[in-house]
Amino acid sequence: MVSTQSVDVTSGLRYLPKSTNSLEKSSPNQELLPLTTKVNDLDHLEIGGWDVPALVDKFGSPLYIVDEYTLRTACRQYRDGLKKYYPGESLVLYASKAWSSLAICAICASEGLGIDVVSGGELYTAIQAGVSPDRIYFHGNNKSLAELTFAMEIDCIIVVDNWLELETLAALKNQQKEQLQNPTKIMVRFTPGIECHTHEYIRTGHIDSKFGFDPNQLNDIFAFISKQELLSLVGLHAHIGSQIFEVQPHQDLISVMVDVMVDAMKYNLPIKEINIGGGLGIRYIEADDPPSIETWVRQISIAMVDACEARQLPLPRLLCEPGRSIVGPSCVTAYTVGSQKQIPEIRTYISVDGGMSDNPRPITYQSVYQSLIANRLSYPTTELVTIAGKHCESGDILIKNATLPVTQPGDCLVVMATGAYNYSMASNYNRLPRPAAVLVGDQEVNVILQRESYQDLLSQDTLPERIAMFPKLTT
Ligand code: LLP
Repeated sequence: MVSTQSVDVTSGLRYLPKSTNSLEKSSPNQELLPLTTKVNDLDHLEIGGWDVPALVDKFGSPLYIVDEYTLRTACRQYRDGLKKYYPGESLVLYASKAWSSLAICAICASEGLGIDVVSGGELYTAIQAGVSPDRIYFHGNNKSLAELTFAMEIDCIIVVDNWLELETLAALKNQQKEQLQNPTKIMVRFTPGIECHTHEYIRTGHIDSKFGFDPNQLNDIFAFISKQELLSLVGLHAHIGSQIFEVQPHQDLISVMVDVMVDAMKYNLPIKEINIGGGLGIRYIEADDPPSIETWVRQISIAMVDACEARQLPLPRLLCEPGRSIVGPSCVTAYTVGSQKQIPEIRTYISVDGGMSDNPRPITYQSVYQSLIANRLSYPTTELVTIAGKHCESGDILIKNATLPVTQPGDCLVVMATGAYNYSMASNYNRLPRPAAVLVGDQEVNVILQRESYQDLLSQDTLPERIAMFPKLTT
Protein backbone atom coordinates (compact mmCIF):
# COMPACT_ATOMS: atom_id res chain seq x y z
CA MET A 1 0.00 0.00 0.00
CA VAL A 2 1.04 3.59 -0.48
CA SER A 3 2.63 4.90 2.67
CA THR A 4 0.53 7.51 4.39
CA GLN A 5 3.64 9.16 5.82
CA SER A 6 3.70 12.79 4.69
CA VAL A 7 6.63 13.80 2.53
CA ASP A 8 8.82 16.46 4.06
CA VAL A 9 9.24 19.03 1.31
CA THR A 10 12.53 20.54 2.34
CA SER A 11 15.97 19.55 1.09
CA GLY A 12 19.13 17.67 1.95
CA LEU A 13 20.48 20.91 3.44
CA ARG A 14 18.58 20.16 6.62
CA TYR A 15 21.04 17.41 7.50
CA LEU A 16 24.09 19.70 7.62
CA PRO A 17 25.70 20.11 11.04
CA LYS A 18 23.96 22.70 13.17
CA SER A 19 26.88 24.93 13.93
CA THR A 20 29.90 25.40 11.74
CA ASN A 21 31.26 28.28 13.85
CA SER A 22 32.35 26.32 16.89
CA LEU A 23 33.07 22.93 15.43
CA GLU A 24 34.97 21.63 18.40
CA LYS A 25 31.92 22.19 20.61
CA SER A 26 29.60 20.06 18.49
CA SER A 27 29.38 16.52 19.68
CA PRO A 28 29.91 14.27 16.63
CA ASN A 29 27.42 11.69 17.93
CA GLN A 30 24.63 14.29 17.84
CA GLU A 31 25.12 15.10 14.16
CA LEU A 32 23.92 13.18 11.13
CA LEU A 33 26.88 14.26 9.02
CA PRO A 34 30.57 14.76 9.78
CA LEU A 35 31.31 18.11 11.45
CA THR A 36 33.12 19.58 8.44
CA THR A 37 30.20 18.96 6.06
CA LYS A 38 29.12 21.89 3.90
CA VAL A 39 27.31 22.61 0.68
CA ASN A 40 29.54 24.13 -2.01
CA ASP A 41 28.90 26.42 -4.98
CA LEU A 42 28.01 23.47 -7.19
CA ASP A 43 25.24 22.54 -4.72
CA HIS A 44 27.31 19.46 -3.85
CA LEU A 45 27.97 17.90 -0.48
CA GLU A 46 31.47 18.67 0.71
CA ILE A 47 33.21 16.84 3.56
CA GLY A 48 36.54 17.99 4.98
CA GLY A 49 36.73 20.48 2.11
CA TRP A 50 36.33 17.77 -0.55
CA ASP A 51 33.51 17.55 -3.07
CA VAL A 52 31.79 14.20 -2.46
CA PRO A 53 30.60 13.47 -6.03
CA ALA A 54 34.15 14.31 -7.22
CA LEU A 55 35.58 11.84 -4.70
CA VAL A 56 33.29 9.18 -6.13
CA ASP A 57 34.41 10.04 -9.66
CA LYS A 58 38.00 9.62 -8.59
CA PHE A 59 37.86 6.66 -6.19
CA GLY A 60 34.83 4.78 -7.43
CA SER A 61 31.55 3.75 -5.89
CA PRO A 62 30.44 2.69 -3.35
CA LEU A 63 32.89 4.65 -1.25
CA TYR A 64 33.27 5.01 2.50
CA ILE A 65 34.36 8.60 3.21
CA VAL A 66 35.88 9.17 6.66
CA ASP A 67 36.33 12.70 7.96
CA GLU A 68 39.54 12.86 9.98
CA TYR A 69 38.49 15.98 11.86
CA THR A 70 35.27 14.40 13.13
CA LEU A 71 37.03 11.20 14.14
CA ARG A 72 39.71 13.10 16.04
CA THR A 73 37.11 15.38 17.64
CA ALA A 74 35.21 12.41 19.05
CA CYS A 75 38.46 10.95 20.46
CA ARG A 76 39.39 14.29 22.01
CA GLN A 77 35.98 14.89 23.52
CA TYR A 78 36.19 11.58 25.37
CA ARG A 79 39.83 12.06 26.36
CA ASP A 80 39.59 15.73 27.38
CA GLY A 81 36.18 15.27 28.99
CA LEU A 82 37.57 12.64 31.32
CA LYS A 83 40.58 14.85 32.12
CA LYS A 84 38.23 17.74 32.87
CA TYR A 85 35.59 15.96 34.94
CA TYR A 86 37.32 12.99 36.50
CA PRO A 87 39.87 13.82 39.18
CA GLY A 88 41.55 10.40 38.98
CA GLU A 89 43.45 8.83 36.11
CA SER A 90 41.55 7.76 33.03
CA LEU A 91 41.98 6.04 29.70
CA VAL A 92 39.66 5.86 26.72
CA LEU A 93 39.86 2.70 24.63
CA TYR A 94 38.55 2.68 21.09
CA ALA A 95 36.42 -0.45 20.61
CA SER A 96 37.94 -1.47 17.31
CA LYS A 97 35.18 -3.95 16.51
CA ALA A 98 33.32 -0.86 15.23
CA TRP A 99 35.96 -0.48 12.48
CA SER A 100 39.26 -2.25 12.74
CA SER A 101 41.84 -1.02 10.26
CA LEU A 102 45.38 0.32 10.40
CA ALA A 103 44.49 3.96 9.77
CA ILE A 104 41.54 4.12 12.17
CA CYS A 105 43.51 2.44 14.99
CA ALA A 106 46.53 4.67 14.34
CA ILE A 107 44.43 7.85 14.44
CA CYS A 108 42.79 6.82 17.71
CA ALA A 109 46.18 5.94 19.22
CA SER A 110 47.63 9.27 18.07
CA GLU A 111 44.86 10.94 20.08
CA GLY A 112 46.00 9.06 23.18
CA LEU A 113 43.37 6.34 23.10
CA GLY A 114 44.08 2.71 23.84
CA ILE A 115 42.38 -0.02 21.81
CA ASP A 116 39.90 -2.73 22.73
CA VAL A 117 40.28 -5.85 20.58
CA VAL A 118 38.21 -9.02 20.55
CA SER A 119 40.20 -11.38 18.34
CA GLY A 120 43.71 -12.23 17.25
CA GLY A 121 42.96 -10.38 14.01
CA GLU A 122 41.96 -7.16 15.74
CA LEU A 123 44.96 -7.52 18.07
CA TYR A 124 47.29 -7.96 15.11
CA THR A 125 45.77 -4.92 13.39
CA ALA A 126 46.26 -2.74 16.48
CA ILE A 127 49.86 -3.89 16.88
CA GLN A 128 50.60 -3.28 13.20
CA ALA A 129 49.05 0.17 13.55
CA GLY A 130 51.70 0.91 16.16
CA VAL A 131 49.53 0.80 19.26
CA SER A 132 51.51 0.17 22.41
CA PRO A 133 50.60 -3.25 23.91
CA ASP A 134 50.11 -1.80 27.38
CA ARG A 135 47.19 0.17 25.91
CA ILE A 136 45.55 -2.83 24.25
CA TYR A 137 42.78 -4.70 26.10
CA PHE A 138 41.86 -8.11 24.73
CA HIS A 139 38.22 -9.19 25.18
CA GLY A 140 36.30 -12.22 24.01
CA ASN A 141 34.23 -15.06 25.38
CA ASN A 142 36.10 -17.85 23.61
CA LYS A 143 39.69 -16.86 23.01
CA SER A 144 41.67 -19.67 21.44
CA LEU A 145 44.88 -21.03 22.84
CA ALA A 146 46.73 -19.39 19.95
CA GLU A 147 45.07 -16.04 20.70
CA LEU A 148 45.90 -16.26 24.41
CA THR A 149 49.49 -17.18 23.67
CA PHE A 150 49.77 -14.30 21.19
CA ALA A 151 48.31 -11.88 23.73
CA MET A 152 50.69 -13.09 26.44
CA GLU A 153 53.70 -12.75 24.16
CA ILE A 154 52.64 -9.26 23.09
CA ASP A 155 52.01 -8.48 26.77
CA CYS A 156 48.69 -6.72 26.39
CA ILE A 157 45.99 -6.75 29.06
CA ILE A 158 43.69 -9.77 28.87
CA VAL A 159 40.07 -9.29 29.89
CA VAL A 160 39.27 -12.71 31.32
CA ASP A 161 35.77 -13.83 30.50
CA ASN A 162 35.29 -17.33 31.95
CA TRP A 163 36.76 -20.15 34.05
CA LEU A 164 38.26 -22.04 31.14
CA GLU A 165 40.17 -18.99 30.07
CA LEU A 166 41.35 -18.20 33.58
CA GLU A 167 42.59 -21.74 34.17
CA THR A 168 44.20 -21.91 30.74
CA LEU A 169 46.04 -18.66 31.35
CA ALA A 170 47.22 -19.80 34.77
CA ALA A 171 48.44 -23.10 33.30
CA LEU A 172 50.22 -21.38 30.40
CA LYS A 173 51.99 -19.03 32.77
CA ASN A 174 52.98 -21.82 35.14
CA GLN A 175 54.36 -23.94 32.28
CA GLN A 176 56.71 -21.11 31.47
CA LYS A 177 57.67 -20.48 35.07
CA GLU A 178 61.30 -21.37 34.47
CA GLN A 179 61.84 -18.50 32.09
CA LEU A 180 61.93 -15.15 33.84
CA GLN A 181 58.62 -13.55 33.11
CA ASN A 182 56.41 -10.72 34.25
CA PRO A 183 52.93 -11.49 35.46
CA THR A 184 50.27 -11.12 32.76
CA LYS A 185 47.88 -8.30 33.51
CA ILE A 186 44.26 -9.36 33.55
CA MET A 187 40.88 -7.80 34.10
CA VAL A 188 37.80 -9.72 35.13
CA ARG A 189 34.65 -9.25 33.09
CA PHE A 190 31.34 -9.89 34.76
CA THR A 191 27.67 -9.43 33.92
CA PRO A 192 26.43 -6.69 36.20
CA GLY A 193 22.70 -7.41 35.99
CA ILE A 194 21.91 -4.31 33.99
CA GLU A 195 20.38 -5.00 30.63
CA CYS A 196 20.14 -2.24 28.12
CA HIS A 197 17.95 -1.90 25.15
CA THR A 198 18.28 0.98 22.83
CA HIS A 199 15.90 3.42 24.41
CA GLU A 200 15.22 1.83 27.73
CA TYR A 201 16.91 -0.28 30.29
CA ILE A 202 15.92 -2.65 33.01
CA ARG A 203 17.83 -3.90 35.98
CA THR A 204 17.42 -7.59 36.35
CA GLY A 205 18.39 -10.20 38.85
CA HIS A 206 18.47 -12.75 36.08
CA ILE A 207 21.48 -12.37 33.86
CA ASP A 208 21.43 -13.96 30.45
CA SER A 209 24.57 -13.14 28.51
CA LYS A 210 27.28 -15.25 26.97
CA PHE A 211 29.91 -12.75 28.14
CA GLY A 212 31.69 -12.58 31.44
CA PHE A 213 31.40 -14.21 34.84
CA ASP A 214 28.15 -14.43 36.67
CA PRO A 215 28.40 -12.17 39.76
CA ASN A 216 27.94 -15.14 42.08
CA GLN A 217 31.14 -16.70 40.71
CA LEU A 218 33.24 -13.68 41.60
CA ASN A 219 34.28 -14.75 45.11
CA ASP A 220 35.68 -18.01 43.75
CA ILE A 221 37.38 -16.15 40.93
CA PHE A 222 39.01 -13.69 43.28
CA ALA A 223 40.13 -16.52 45.58
CA PHE A 224 41.70 -18.31 42.59
CA ILE A 225 43.41 -15.20 41.22
CA SER A 226 44.79 -14.24 44.62
CA LYS A 227 46.83 -17.46 44.53
CA GLN A 228 48.32 -16.86 41.08
CA GLU A 229 51.74 -15.28 41.20
CA LEU A 230 51.92 -14.84 37.46
CA LEU A 231 48.51 -13.29 36.93
CA SER A 232 48.09 -9.74 38.10
CA LEU A 233 44.52 -8.51 38.45
CA VAL A 234 44.41 -4.85 37.44
CA GLY A 235 40.71 -4.30 37.25
CA LEU A 236 37.10 -5.06 36.50
CA HIS A 237 35.21 -4.83 33.27
CA ALA A 238 31.54 -4.76 32.29
CA HIS A 239 29.69 -3.72 29.14
CA ILE A 240 25.95 -3.24 29.21
CA GLY A 241 24.93 -2.63 25.61
CA SER A 242 25.18 -0.44 22.58
CA GLN A 243 23.38 2.55 21.02
CA ILE A 244 22.19 3.68 24.46
CA PHE A 245 20.55 7.09 24.76
CA GLU A 246 20.47 7.40 28.54
CA VAL A 247 23.29 7.92 30.99
CA GLN A 248 21.52 6.33 33.94
CA PRO A 249 22.36 2.70 33.05
CA HIS A 250 26.07 3.49 33.15
CA GLN A 251 25.65 5.39 36.41
CA ASP A 252 23.95 2.33 37.89
CA LEU A 253 26.67 0.13 36.46
CA ILE A 254 29.34 2.16 38.24
CA SER A 255 27.65 1.62 41.55
CA VAL A 256 27.51 -2.15 40.96
CA MET A 257 31.16 -2.22 39.90
CA VAL A 258 32.38 -0.28 42.89
CA ASP A 259 30.61 -2.78 45.15
CA VAL A 260 32.53 -5.55 43.42
CA MET A 261 35.72 -3.56 43.94
CA VAL A 262 35.03 -3.78 47.67
CA ASP A 263 34.52 -7.55 47.39
CA ALA A 264 37.86 -7.99 45.62
CA MET A 265 39.65 -6.14 48.38
CA LYS A 266 38.63 -8.90 50.79
CA TYR A 267 40.96 -11.16 48.79
CA ASN A 268 43.76 -8.66 49.02
CA LEU A 269 43.20 -7.70 45.41
CA PRO A 270 43.23 -3.93 45.09
CA ILE A 271 41.29 -2.94 41.97
CA LYS A 272 43.18 -0.19 40.18
CA GLU A 273 41.03 0.10 37.07
CA ILE A 274 37.33 0.05 36.34
CA ASN A 275 36.26 -0.28 32.72
CA ILE A 276 32.59 0.53 32.17
CA GLY A 277 32.52 -0.58 28.52
CA GLY A 278 31.10 1.38 25.61
CA GLY A 279 27.59 1.99 24.43
CA LEU A 280 26.87 5.70 23.96
CA GLY A 281 24.45 6.05 21.07
CA ILE A 282 24.68 8.19 17.94
CA ARG A 283 22.22 10.00 15.70
CA TYR A 284 21.27 7.92 12.67
CA ILE A 285 18.03 9.74 11.91
CA GLU A 286 16.70 13.17 12.78
CA ALA A 287 14.51 11.78 15.56
CA ASP A 288 17.49 10.32 17.44
CA ASP A 289 18.60 12.38 20.40
CA PRO A 290 21.61 10.93 22.22
CA PRO A 291 23.39 12.82 25.00
CA SER A 292 26.59 14.53 23.93
CA ILE A 293 29.94 12.86 24.57
CA GLU A 294 30.78 15.59 27.07
CA THR A 295 27.52 15.12 28.99
CA TRP A 296 28.01 11.36 29.11
CA VAL A 297 31.61 11.69 30.31
CA ARG A 298 30.68 14.29 32.92
CA GLN A 299 27.87 12.18 34.34
CA ILE A 300 29.87 8.98 34.55
CA SER A 301 32.77 10.84 36.15
CA ILE A 302 30.48 12.25 38.81
CA ALA A 303 28.95 8.82 39.38
CA MET A 304 32.36 7.25 39.92
CA VAL A 305 33.52 9.95 42.32
CA ASP A 306 30.25 9.70 44.29
CA ALA A 307 30.35 5.90 44.42
CA CYS A 308 33.93 5.86 45.70
CA GLU A 309 33.34 8.62 48.20
CA ALA A 310 30.31 6.81 49.60
CA ARG A 311 32.43 3.71 50.19
CA GLN A 312 35.57 5.62 51.16
CA LEU A 313 37.60 4.08 48.38
CA PRO A 314 40.45 5.60 46.41
CA LEU A 315 39.49 6.55 42.87
CA PRO A 316 40.35 3.82 40.36
CA ARG A 317 41.64 4.57 36.90
CA LEU A 318 38.41 5.03 34.92
CA LEU A 319 38.26 3.37 31.53
CA CYS A 320 35.54 3.38 28.92
CA GLU A 321 35.57 1.82 25.49
CA PRO A 322 33.33 3.54 22.96
CA GLY A 323 33.25 2.27 19.40
CA ARG A 324 30.16 3.53 17.61
CA SER A 325 30.30 7.08 18.99
CA ILE A 326 33.99 7.41 18.00
CA VAL A 327 33.87 6.25 14.42
CA GLY A 328 30.18 6.13 13.45
CA PRO A 329 29.51 9.84 12.84
CA SER A 330 32.80 10.46 11.03
CA CYS A 331 31.83 8.49 7.93
CA VAL A 332 29.28 8.43 5.13
CA THR A 333 28.85 5.91 2.34
CA ALA A 334 28.47 7.30 -1.16
CA TYR A 335 26.70 5.16 -3.76
CA THR A 336 25.72 5.66 -7.38
CA VAL A 337 22.03 5.50 -8.20
CA GLY A 338 21.13 2.96 -10.87
CA SER A 339 17.85 1.39 -11.89
CA GLN A 340 14.47 2.43 -10.60
CA LYS A 341 11.27 0.44 -10.38
CA GLN A 342 7.95 2.14 -9.89
CA ILE A 343 5.12 -0.03 -8.68
CA PRO A 344 2.06 2.17 -9.01
CA GLU A 345 0.16 2.69 -5.78
CA ILE A 346 2.76 0.66 -3.90
CA ARG A 347 6.28 2.06 -3.92
CA THR A 348 9.27 3.16 -5.96
CA TYR A 349 12.52 1.29 -5.58
CA ILE A 350 15.76 3.09 -6.28
CA SER A 351 18.71 0.73 -6.53
CA VAL A 352 22.28 1.59 -5.65
CA ASP A 353 25.55 -0.15 -6.43
CA GLY A 354 26.11 -1.60 -2.94
CA GLY A 355 23.80 -2.79 -0.19
CA MET A 356 23.81 -5.41 2.52
CA SER A 357 27.43 -6.35 1.79
CA ASP A 358 28.79 -2.91 2.70
CA ASN A 359 26.07 -2.12 5.27
CA PRO A 360 24.57 -5.26 6.81
CA ARG A 361 22.92 -3.37 9.67
CA PRO A 362 19.47 -2.76 8.09
CA ILE A 363 18.97 -6.40 7.18
CA THR A 364 20.53 -7.67 10.40
CA TYR A 365 19.01 -5.33 12.96
CA GLN A 366 16.36 -3.44 10.99
CA SER A 367 18.54 -0.38 11.59
CA VAL A 368 17.36 2.86 10.08
CA TYR A 369 19.42 5.38 8.16
CA GLN A 370 18.86 8.61 6.27
CA SER A 371 20.18 9.64 2.91
CA LEU A 372 20.56 12.58 0.55
CA ILE A 373 21.51 13.24 -3.04
CA ALA A 374 24.99 14.73 -2.83
CA ASN A 375 24.98 16.35 -6.28
CA ARG A 376 21.73 18.31 -5.79
CA LEU A 377 21.72 19.09 -2.14
CA SER A 378 19.28 21.99 -2.10
CA TYR A 379 16.65 20.38 -4.33
CA PRO A 380 13.32 19.84 -2.62
CA THR A 381 12.86 16.37 -1.24
CA THR A 382 9.56 15.57 -2.84
CA GLU A 383 9.83 11.81 -3.37
CA LEU A 384 9.18 9.00 -0.98
CA VAL A 385 11.23 6.02 -2.15
CA THR A 386 12.79 2.79 -0.99
CA ILE A 387 16.53 2.48 -1.44
CA ALA A 388 17.48 -1.03 -2.43
CA GLY A 389 20.87 -2.67 -2.63
CA LYS A 390 21.98 -4.75 -5.59
CA HIS A 391 22.14 -8.12 -3.87
CA CYS A 392 20.17 -11.14 -4.85
CA GLU A 393 18.05 -10.93 -1.73
CA SER A 394 14.65 -9.26 -1.39
CA GLY A 395 15.51 -8.06 2.10
CA ASP A 396 18.48 -6.13 0.78
CA ILE A 397 16.89 -2.76 1.46
CA LEU A 398 19.07 0.03 2.83
CA ILE A 399 16.32 2.54 3.61
CA LYS A 400 12.56 2.23 3.57
CA ASN A 401 10.63 5.45 2.96
CA ALA A 402 13.55 7.73 2.20
CA THR A 403 12.69 11.30 1.23
CA LEU A 404 14.77 12.44 -1.72
CA PRO A 405 14.58 14.86 -4.62
CA VAL A 406 13.65 13.33 -7.96
CA THR A 407 16.63 11.09 -8.70
CA GLN A 408 18.28 10.03 -11.90
CA PRO A 409 20.64 7.19 -12.72
CA GLY A 410 24.16 8.39 -11.98
CA ASP A 411 23.19 10.52 -9.00
CA CYS A 412 25.41 10.29 -5.96
CA LEU A 413 23.40 9.01 -3.01
CA VAL A 414 24.93 9.39 0.43
CA VAL A 415 23.89 7.36 3.46
CA MET A 416 24.86 9.07 6.71
CA ALA A 417 26.57 7.89 9.89
CA THR A 418 27.95 4.65 8.47
CA GLY A 419 31.33 4.54 10.21
CA ALA A 420 30.48 1.99 12.87
CA TYR A 421 29.79 -1.69 12.19
CA ASN A 422 29.49 -1.21 8.44
CA TYR A 423 32.94 -1.95 7.04
CA SER A 424 33.71 -4.16 10.04
CA MET A 425 30.68 -6.33 9.29
CA ALA A 426 30.95 -6.09 5.51
CA SER A 427 30.96 -9.24 3.43
CA ASN A 428 31.52 -10.36 -0.13
CA TYR A 429 28.00 -11.70 -0.50
CA ASN A 430 27.27 -12.31 -4.19
CA ARG A 431 31.01 -11.81 -4.68
CA LEU A 432 30.78 -8.06 -4.54
CA PRO A 433 34.22 -6.60 -3.93
CA ARG A 434 34.21 -4.57 -0.72
CA PRO A 435 34.33 -0.79 -1.27
CA ALA A 436 37.33 1.47 -0.86
CA ALA A 437 37.55 3.88 2.06
CA VAL A 438 39.14 7.30 1.87
CA LEU A 439 40.22 9.53 4.72
CA VAL A 440 39.57 13.19 4.02
CA GLY A 441 41.83 15.62 5.84
CA ASP A 442 42.79 19.29 5.59
CA GLN A 443 45.42 18.83 2.97
CA GLU A 444 45.02 15.37 1.55
CA VAL A 445 42.68 12.58 0.69
CA ASN A 446 44.18 9.17 1.42
CA VAL A 447 42.92 5.76 0.53
CA ILE A 448 42.81 3.83 3.82
CA LEU A 449 41.26 0.70 2.33
CA GLN A 450 41.81 -0.32 -1.24
CA ARG A 451 38.76 -1.32 -3.21
CA GLU A 452 38.77 -5.08 -3.60
CA SER A 453 39.30 -6.43 -7.08
CA TYR A 454 37.95 -9.59 -8.68
CA GLN A 455 41.44 -11.08 -8.18
CA ASP A 456 41.17 -10.28 -4.45
CA LEU A 457 37.93 -12.22 -4.36
CA LEU A 458 39.77 -15.26 -5.65
CA SER A 459 42.86 -14.76 -3.50
CA GLN A 460 41.88 -17.45 -1.00
CA ASP A 461 40.30 -19.82 -3.53
CA THR A 462 42.19 -22.87 -4.59
CA LEU A 463 41.30 -25.18 -7.43
CA PRO A 464 42.79 -28.63 -6.78
CA GLU A 465 44.45 -29.90 -9.91
CA ARG A 466 42.44 -33.07 -10.01
CA ILE A 467 39.24 -31.00 -10.02
CA ALA A 468 40.59 -28.59 -12.63
CA MET A 469 41.44 -31.57 -14.80
CA PHE A 470 37.85 -32.77 -15.01
CA PRO A 471 36.55 -32.31 -18.48
CA LYS A 472 33.80 -29.70 -18.44
CA LEU A 473 30.61 -31.30 -19.58
CA THR A 474 28.80 -29.32 -22.17
CA THR A 475 25.78 -31.49 -22.52
N1 LLP B 1 33.05 -3.01 24.70
C1 LLP B 1 32.50 -4.22 24.54
C2 LLP B 1 32.89 -5.31 25.43
C3 LLP B 1 31.56 -4.44 23.53
O1 LLP B 1 31.01 -5.63 23.40
C4 LLP B 1 31.21 -3.36 22.67
C5 LLP B 1 30.26 -3.57 21.60
C6 LLP B 1 31.83 -2.12 22.86
C7 LLP B 1 32.74 -1.98 23.90
C8 LLP B 1 31.54 -0.94 21.99
O2 LLP B 1 30.22 -0.54 22.07
P1 LLP B 1 29.72 0.79 21.29
O3 LLP B 1 30.37 1.97 21.94
O4 LLP B 1 30.16 0.65 19.89
O5 LLP B 1 28.27 0.77 21.46
N2 LLP B 1 27.08 -4.81 15.54
C9 LLP B 1 26.15 -4.09 16.38
C10 LLP B 1 26.84 -3.55 17.60
C11 LLP B 1 27.45 -4.63 18.45
C12 LLP B 1 28.18 -4.07 19.63
C13 LLP B 1 28.99 -5.12 20.24
N3 LLP B 1 29.75 -4.69 21.35
C14 LLP B 1 25.56 -2.95 15.55
O6 LLP B 1 25.87 -2.81 14.38
O7 LLP B 1 24.74 -2.19 16.06
